[in-house]
Amino acid sequence: MRKKIVAGNWKMNKTLAEGTELAKTVNRLVEENDVTVVLCTPFIHLSEVNKIITKDSLFLGAQNCASEASGAYTGEVSAQMIRSAGADYVIIGHSERRSCFREDDSLLNKKVKLALENDLIPIFCCGEILKERQAGKHIQVVKTQIENGLFDLTTEDFSKIVIAYEPVWAIGTGVNATAEQAQEMHKIIRGLITDRYGHQIADNTPILYGGSCKPSNAKELFANPDVDGGLIGGASLTSSDFMGIVYAFKEI
Ligand code: 13P
Repeated sequence: MRKKIVAGNWKMNKTLAEGTELAKTVNRLVEENDVTVVLCTPFIHLSEVNKIITKDSLFLGAQNCASEASGAYTGEVSAQMIRSAGADYVIIGHSERRSCFREDDSLLNKKVKLALENDLIPIFCCGEILKERQAGKHIQVVKTQIENGLFDLTTEDFSKIVIAYEPVWAIGTGVNATAEQAQEMHKIIRGLITDRYGHQIADNTPILYGGSCKPSNAKELFANPDVDGGLIGGASLTSSDFMGIVYAFKEI
């Protein structure tokens, strides 16, 4: 059985004090069951949040890592540094990194490999913009992102990957993909993985949905056979909304 995962992406929100408060509440409310919960915090929060986590099903993640291993790259944070702060996960290729910071597929491929070399689980994001969906190009866009970002990995390395499908038009807009749209794309992604790495790997790869996921729509989204959880932005910033999404799995 593949993992069910709900990951919170705090983005550039929360002071250190606010972030540690939120992490304490989430740590208290997380239940020891089969849902893996991940807090993807800003870099400066990592080691403090790491000290707070006591639950076996709660994990720490970063939102990005450098594309170089170490050295003279002022302002960058390496995968090794992230690992040393206690993180197990790192988001790679979020649409905000792709658009605001011009991160392309080959750069993201380097980041994925550095993350894996440093024992971090990449949460690899893909997703089309509205114009691409309207033009009927969404499947090709996601396919290209996944092929270029991930498909030169060995089977062993790929088996550690988590994928997050985040249609850009659904991020922070309040307009989520419908359950049908999410399931359609997730099934296509799993099919691509099957073709490249075989059934067993594809069956075990968690594919998360992201984009205006909230307690009121999480159950409908997560109930789909190829939707294995969510990558949550805005709703991860309050413990009640975030845990409402985590608990949605209980109703399925
Ligand atoms: P929202 O949940 O705020 O739409 O953001 C989704 C996201 O970008 C998570 O990475």
